[in-house]
Amino acid sequence: MTHQNIILTGFMGTGKTTVGRLLAKKLTYRFIDTDDTIVSKTGKTVAQIFETLGENAFRRMESDLALELSTLHEQVIATGGGMLMNSDNVTAFSGSGIIFSLMADPETIIHRVSHDGGALRPLLDVPDPKKKIEELLTQRGPIYERFIQIDTTEKSPESICEEIAQKYQNITS
Ligand code: S3P
Repeated sequence: MTHQNIILTGFMGTGKTTVGRLLAKKLTYRFIDTDDTIVSKTGKTVAQIFETLGENAFRRMESDLALELSTLHEQVIATGGGMLMNSDNVTAFSGSGIIFSLMADPETIIHRVSHDGGALRPLLDVPDPKKKIEELLTQRGPIYERFIQIDTTEKSPESICEEIAQKYQNITS
């Protein structure tokens, strides 16, 4: 039997990378962070890509990567928070694995991303990041809600990892 991928989506600051890394270790799957992969492929930070090539170029790189990763198995893939806003990427990932959506209340998200100076998250490099977070959450909420929901508020990465592993095993066994 092929072991399906685990794809983690959700807003910035919901812990996709931290939880994904733990989950990959637990299952002995390959761990992929899509932002990190794009950064190593291009040799530019996400902020530099947005600045020099534009957001659309970054989104195209995400789509190419979604297709590439969907041909492989036994991976935990932590996606950038905007990656599954593109339905083609959802189609690609759905064909190769199970998608989980990590969520947290807006205050928790604001607290978790507030120390980021914009290097990783250029979308929040604006005068009022709190307002921007609220706008994006409203806009993206209905899409994140289509996937299996995992609430991360006030939970440790280890307990979130266990919860996802349990759900994944129930679905795939
Ligand atoms: C983005 C989220 C970021 C990164 C880029 C755009 C988004 O990833 O891909 O800054 O559109 O939500 P994280 O969700 O890992 O912060």
